[in-house]
Amino acid sequence: MAERLEGTIERINGSIIIGKFKEEPKMGDLIEVGNLRLMGEIVRLSKETAFIQCYESTAGLKPGEPVIDIGTPLVAELGPGLMGQIIDGVARSETELWDLTGPFISRGANIPPLNREKVWKFEATAKKGDKVTAGDIIGTVQETDTFVHKIMIPPNHEGTIKSIKTGEYTVEDTVGVLETADGNVDLKMMQVWPVRVGRPIKERLELSQPLITGQRVIDTFFPCAKGGASAIPGGFGTGKTVTLQQIAKWSDADIIVYIGCGERGNEMADVVEQFPEIEDPKTGKKLIERTIIIANVSNMAVSAREASIYMGITIGEYFRDQGFDVSLMADSTSRWAEALRDISGRLEEIPAEAGFPAYLADRIANIYERAGKVMVPATQDREGSLTILGAVSPPGGDYSEPVTTTTLRFIGTFWALDSQLAYRRHFPAINWLRSFSRYLDVAARWWSELDSSWEPTRALALRILEEAAEIEETARIIGEKALPDDQRLVLLVAEMLREGFLVQSAFHDIDRFCSPEKQVKLMKIFTDFYNTVRPLIEQGIPIDQVRELNVIREIMRLKERDGTDPIDAARAQMLNEIDALTKQYQGVET
Ligand SMILES: Nc1ncnc2c1ncn2[C@@H]1O[C@H](COP(=O)(O)OP(=O)(O)OP(=O)(O)O)[C@@H](O)[C@H]1O
Ligand SMILES: [Mg+2]
Repeated sequence: MAERLEGTIERINGSIIIGKFKEEPKMGDLIEVGNLRLMGEIVRLSKETAFIQCYESTAGLKPGEPVIDIGTPLVAELGPGLMGQIIDGVARSETELWDLTGPFISRGANIPPLNREKVWKFEATAKKGDKVTAGDIIGTVQETDTFVHKIMIPPNHEGTIKSIKTGEYTVEDTVGVLETADGNVDLKMMQVWPVRVGRPIKERLELSQPLITGQRVIDTFFPCAKGGASAIPGGFGTGKTVTLQQIAKWSDADIIVYIGCGERGNEMADVVEQFPEIEDPKTGKKLIERTIIIANVSNMAVSAREASIYMGITIGEYFRDQGFDVSLMADSTSRWAEALRDISGRLEEIPAEAGFPAYLADRIANIYERAGKVMVPATQDREGSLTILGAVSPPGGDYSEPVTTTTLRFIGTFWALDSQLAYRRHFPAINWLRSFSRYLDVAARWWSELDSSWEPTRALALRILEEAAEIEETARIIGEKALPDDQRLVLLVAEMLREGFLVQSAFHDIDRFCSPEKQVKLMKIFTDFYNTVRPLIEQGIPIDQVRELNVIREIMRLKERDGTDPIDAARAQMLNEIDALTKQYQGVET
């Protein structure tokens, strides 16, 4: 048990408590604050005087009440029982607190995230006499119907297994004993790790696979990589939450960590109530069986929100270490940054841009740098990845504000949500001219194996969309009809691509997920249409006649048709109709 150092409250400034200790306490240590024993953390230290960020409402606290340094930093509890849990940012089980007290948890209530009584069936896979090192898997637990939890030797341990036994245990029971250079260590299913420190890795690996989300504008145009980092900025109501939830539901990640850093309690309550109901398209069971939610649904202080991101990332890293592809969503990092600003203000630090502390960039970097594909420290090579996707909510949708611009420096994919598009109900409202992906090489390798023409097709589709944007500028001045026909063709195909490819409803039974096979085939029919019609336009067939082709409407509806057979049928129809038009026109000519 760590040593407990005592002190008293000197001053209270909102969520910041200034406490005076008998000796100098440790930066980052957890503190029990006041008679209610609220949770807090030392965020600044000046000898014996500590500035404590209190995670709960400090109303009613008085100078003179005790503060106790419990001698450990904020840690995440890691082990069986996490799956399906709703945990708050400072590692209390909201699931169980809710059952006890309802959504508004009484202050000072504290329930650890991992159930201490629950018995799990531990299947030992290591044997007596095995030489093991940190990260080595010593056994498994069937945690949910669909998820097998791997129990690992905790970081910074190595030795020889002295004993280990299959059986029924709680997370705190000893399942085996490890003989190390410094003596025997009891092996348990639960381990802890300080949330603000990244878990050790053996090696960072190059990203090699796209994260397939089933969302066309993302996968085809602005792909993310497994182990990559992505930002999704957007003003109020532009679709940040729906997009992140689509990725949570449909992406090919094994494990989902969903962090709700919301301002509004009811928004969080929605997440907490809806998520457990969502069916997992992969397994037919509930998505929650491979999801962990971090949400401050209780009436906790903003400062708990600041910690919640690190809690989520640490849990994500833990599953990454088991060899899984983990996707972490944070909605929204702006609320997290505001919490940081609030704390910094109360610490009376000198503010930088827009009132954010000067270390905002370092903190944002710390978050996204923990994404990656890694070789886990273990005797046998094992890879895992953690992908981080952060929503950003710039005030007034202004992307020049510090959180958005700073985030841009540390991410590989930028999905720029656009209020204009959202207003026109073009969803996902990802602006194809302002978004980008630095993982295109990774994606291109993968997609080209599926279809060798992927790269040129994608490039052409994007060029049509970009050219159309320029032509539209002119069209606004002189009118569309006054444009030359080749330009009007670009406008026509761009419109077809927008409606028939980019727009994708999260609520349509078929369209909500588009398989990679369907994405390529679908994209190709637009570019093939363009490539086939273009020579005809050059030969003088009027664009207005092309616009009359019946197949155009069919092409735009293909996304809502099941599978890829209708695409093949539409292609045949397209060639027939174009052929007929050519003949008809040549007939008129001669
Ligand atoms: N892919 C989509 N398909 C269909 N509708 C969508 C899609 N994305 C967003 N919408 C529509 O936009 C609305 C707002 O989306 P959402 O709640 O995700 O926005 P937000 O950016 O998270 O907003 P806030 O700033 O309030 O958090 C949704 O309720 C839905 O009607
Ligand atoms: Mg939202």
